[in-house]
Parts: sequence; structure tokens; C-alpha cells
Amino acid sequence: MILTIVGESARQRSQRKIDTLESIEEKLNFKTLEWRGDHLRLLDQRALPESEEYRDCRTVGEVAAAIKNMTIRGAPAIGIAAAYGMALAALNQHDYREAAALLKSCRPTAANLAWAVDRMSSACALQDIAQVIAEAGAIEAEDAMMCRQIGVNGNGFVADGANVLTHCNAGALATGGIGTALGIIYTAHFSGKRLHVWVDETRPFLQGARLTAWELGRAGVPYTLICDNVAASLMAAGKVDCVIVGADRIAANGDFANKIGTYGLAVLAGFHNIPFYVAAPSSTFDSKCATGEDIVIEERDPAEVTFIFRKAICPHGCAALNPAFDVTPGSLVTAYITEKEVIGAGGFESGNPHELLP
Ligand code: MRU
Repeated sequence: MILTIVGESARQRSQRKIDTLESIEEKLNFKTLEWRGDHLRLLDQRALPESEEYRDCRTVGEVAAAIKNMTIRGAPAIGIAAAYGMALAALNQHDYREAAALLKSCRPTAANLAWAVDRMSSACALQDIAQVIAEAGAIEAEDAMMCRQIGVNGNGFVADGANVLTHCNAGALATGGIGTALGIIYTAHFSGKRLHVWVDETRPFLQGARLTAWELGRAGVPYTLICDNVAASLMAAGKVDCVIVGADRIAANGDFANKIGTYGLAVLAGFHNIPFYVAAPSSTFDSKCATGEDIVIEERDPAEVTFIFRKAICPHGCAALNPAFDVTPGSLVTAYITEKEVIGAGGFESGNPHELLP
């Protein structure tokens, strides 16, 4: 089933196709993060969609706080922010080992955070500030490139007329480029396909409602916001053609952590025979985690569950649990779409994904 884009003609659709791919970033027209020579500017994702506010970080401590309090979020984006945090530590002559430990402690689940910090630590050890800053820039540029390539590699999995369901925000706000899951959706949309996206609101932090809806709206991709508990009945009614999500960490056996609620969606997709795709760059793969059991799951403040926009939604003192992520078994994944290749079902049985990725 396709929800038609009211008023869009075939000519307009093919114009979209011609406009296309390199300019997706330009069409989105916002900067999630920006290095400005001596400081890092972040689009404050806590304020979206109501207002576009920017925060300047001038110290590694400020970057660490921004990662922790979700000014910036999404696994690749926090890796890039942390890389610039290391650059700020170098500029401010802060011990890089201490800076690395601080940044890594901010959010434990995203593999990209420690990956970027380790890469920056090697650069810092050479004690050349220009090189340290260049390395952070390279991490950002490579991420943008990986997103573009994930979009291209994933485009073939999205049919013209598809209804795609996504969870959380794995878009430009979560990366240094056009996003991973949303990168595929943008690539399909701007290559002329008629798509419609079901956007899970993604309780408790509402990344779907606040961020994914904002991004898709800017890009002109037709979408409908749904409460997280609507997915099952939409699938049963044949209104979901595929699910595409991002990942925070992918273990060596293909189990992966992503935003809480992803596991439930994967079970539902399996039950209804709907393809379930994971879109992620190779920096999200962690060969040191043998299985999902080795992935550390971040627990966040229960107040994120008991309050919405500073208003209590339950009795005072109510106990609440707030795991930020869950682990989905690799057996529920139809394919992992990376910048290098697509790893299909069973791809992990032959060993370590890093060996599978050329
Ligand atoms: O808590 P968040 O908002 O950082 O969680 C983000 C996600 O779960 C994303 O799906 C994941 O990081 C992939 S982003 C390309």
C-alpha cells in the first residue's frame, strides 16, 4: 500500500531523481555539528523541533556534558563529537588519556564513541595539534561518506511505493552525513521512489517524534507519526513493507544493540514475515563483543520516563526503569547494510563481521 504524495506529478518525481544524490545533505540544510577552528558548535537536539538552538563547546568537559545530556546523540554523531572533544583537549593542553577516559564514560553502548576516541588517542600521542584536528575532521568526513554509501547500498531494498517503518532517529542528526537508516530512505526518495515512512515516536526520549519527524519533514519525505505500540497492528494489516533501523553496537555474532524497543519490532517483523534491516557503518561493529550478552546497556535517569517536558505523568515517587537500548538477536535480522557490503542472513555464521567486511 502506498500513501500517495498529494499533488506530486510523475514529472515532479523524475525531477527529484535528476536533482539527486550528492545534494541530499544540502536539501536537509542543517548542521548537526560543526568544527569552527577553536570550538565545536552543536545543534541542541533537546530543543528540537520547537527551536533550532546551537551550543558552543570550548572544552572537552563541555563536549562530555553535551554527549551525556543528549544535546548530541546517535552513535556516529557522538563519536564525531568526542573526536572534536579530544581535539579541544589537545588545544587546551589537557592530558589526552584523561580526556579519553572522560569521553568514553559518557555513554557506554555506542561502539562509535570508544572507536573514535581510540583513534584520536593515537593521533594525540604524536603531539602535533594540526594532525589531531585533521584526524577529527577525517572521522567526520569518513562518516559522511559511509552514510552516502549505506544509502546507495540500501536503496535496492526499498521498493517503489513501500511503507517503511523506522524507530528512534538514525538520520542526519545522528551522524556526520545523511544518516544510516534515514540515509537509505533519503536515497530512495530522492532517486524518485514514492515512499511513506511510519515513524515510531520512540518513548521515552521521543527521538522519533521530535527528531525523525523533523528531518523527514525538511526533506519532504511523506511520513506518519505513530505511538510505539501501533506497529503490531499495522504489520498485521499489511501496511508495513520493511523495517529499517540503525545500531549502536553490533557484536561478532550479529546481535546488536539499538534504541529500546528495537527488539520488539524485530520479533514482530519476524512474526509477520516482514524484512528487518539494520543500517550501520563499519565503525559500529565490535569484534570484541562475542555476542549481545557482552554489550553494556546504558541505564538513564528514570525521570526521563516519569516526566514529559518537565510535567510528571505518574504519581510522585513512582518507580521507573529506563534502559536506553535493547539487544536484538542476529537471527531476527534480514540483512545488515554497511558502507562496504550487505551482510545477509547467515553472513555472521562464517565468523567475524570484520573479516566479512573488506
Ligand atoms: O539514545 P540515542 O538517541 O543516542 O540512541 C540512538 C539510536 O539508538 C540510533 O538508532 C543509533 O545510535 C544509530 S544512529 C545512526
